[in-house]
Amino acid sequence: MTDRKDTKLWGGRFDKAPDARFDSFQRSFAFDRRLLPYEIAVDRAWAKALEPIGIFSANEVKQTLAALDKIEERAENDHAWLEKTGADAEDVHHFVEKALVEELGPLGWKLHTGRSRNELVATDFRLFIMDAASETEAAVRALIEMLSIQANVALDNVVPMAGMTHMQHAQPILLAHFFLAHAEAFLRDIRKLRLAAEGANVCPMGSGALAGNSLGIDRRLVAAELGFTRITANSLDAVSDRDFALDYLFALTGVATHLSRLAEDLVIFASQEFAYAILPDEFSTGSSLMPQKKNPDCWELIRGKSGRINAALVGLLTTLKGLPTSYQRDLQEDKEILFDAHDQVTEMVLVAASALFTTRFNEQRLLASASDPALLATEAADYLVRKGVPFRQAHDIVGKVLKEAEGQRITWTELPLSELRKFSTAFSEDLKQSLTLTAALAAKNVPGGTSPEQVKKALAALDDRDWGDEIFSGIAI
Ligand code: ARG
Repeated sequence: MTDRKDTKLWGGRFDKAPDARFDSFQRSFAFDRRLLPYEIAVDRAWAKALEPIGIFSANEVKQTLAALDKIEERAENDHAWLEKTGADAEDVHHFVEKALVEELGPLGWKLHTGRSRNELVATDFRLFIMDAASETEAAVRALIEMLSIQANVALDNVVPMAGMTHMQHAQPILLAHFFLAHAEAFLRDIRKLRLAAEGANVCPMGSGALAGNSLGIDRRLVAAELGFTRITANSLDAVSDRDFALDYLFALTGVATHLSRLAEDLVIFASQEFAYAILPDEFSTGSSLMPQKKNPDCWELIRGKSGRINAALVGLLTTLKGLPTSYQRDLQEDKEILFDAHDQVTEMVLVAASALFTTRFNEQRLLASASDPALLATEAADYLVRKGVPFRQAHDIVGKVLKEAEGQRITWTELPLSELRKFSTAFSEDLKQSLTLTAALAAKNVPGGTSPEQVKKALAALDDRDWGDEIFSGIAI
């Protein structure tokens, strides 16, 4: 049926037009139009590669390239045309062919020679993900920059805080150390984003629908033209594989999970009970009922959205599970969830960076939390260890001291030396020097520790980082 042939990429062997509901159900142009710049780039590379194998004349290449330029320009600037041409396009591949025919007549039908949408969609998607991963990396770097700025301010003022485990006061740390802990996690994400981009950097073009290309296309030429550094090694795998999309989604779940942790910390810090952080007006919202409220919605939304990012990864894994080898239409389901996850994570990271930049920290409250004498219990045990007491025994002695003070309803640091010596004769005059917040912090003078000296080094290492290098978290030995 000629009318069917005119509007579809595949009408020849069909008698009936598709059911209208099914037809709209199967179309992907509404979302895969986002791949248009990549589709056009692949088309350009393909047009050039068709000349050496005698499919295109030099003039046909020229005409096709000029038409592709025009289509690209129109798609960007002529919205009405884009909507009209796209209205009955099945997908982005069909859209470009329709536009080419509109521009060139029957010559427009020639570009699809020897290729399949199965390899096209995999190639476009890989190119998209390579760009997307570097866009996300740039956002994560901006966030690390904000963490470094906050760490700098906190280190200048040597702001301490009560470090916690199990949400219970544990040992004093520096606020700067807390910021740098988050920076370290985001550095790991950058590494994963780069690995995902590298995973996508393999060109499927020349794989055909599944079996390869019979016209002798120069696959390396097409790949190099597109900026890929490798070509896929198996045509059947090339049209089946979406591991590169899973890798990118996994990297995004890492970013989102780390953001959710930062968000949770800030929600807690902004609570009246903690009051460590002062929420910026610009990133908070009020209550429609309670006039006094200032809510940390920006962090709550970031924390909440992280669930959606995990869902995207699990969603694609579930779609892929048990698919037969080769292209299956199920694979069309890969794009929407990945586009959404990418858009959401980029926004989450950038909102987090700006919110963090405008957040002020209540140094008095933080100092007060760090001044809890209980935080020095481990220092007392370490003191005894330095005097030669085995650690388990030292731990027990300090525990008993704490219990005694609790019984007397005083803080244990108020117990006079004479009383302490009842628990261990190893306690002597110099104990006082060890049992200060400053001494406790300074004592943690190992690489990666929270002493001001080490945190200063860690911050300098972060600020001096060469982003062109391979990114690792951790300190090289
Ligand atoms: N829209 C399709 C997708 O996103 C493109 C490939 C279609 N291929 C096919 N043989 N129907 O996966």
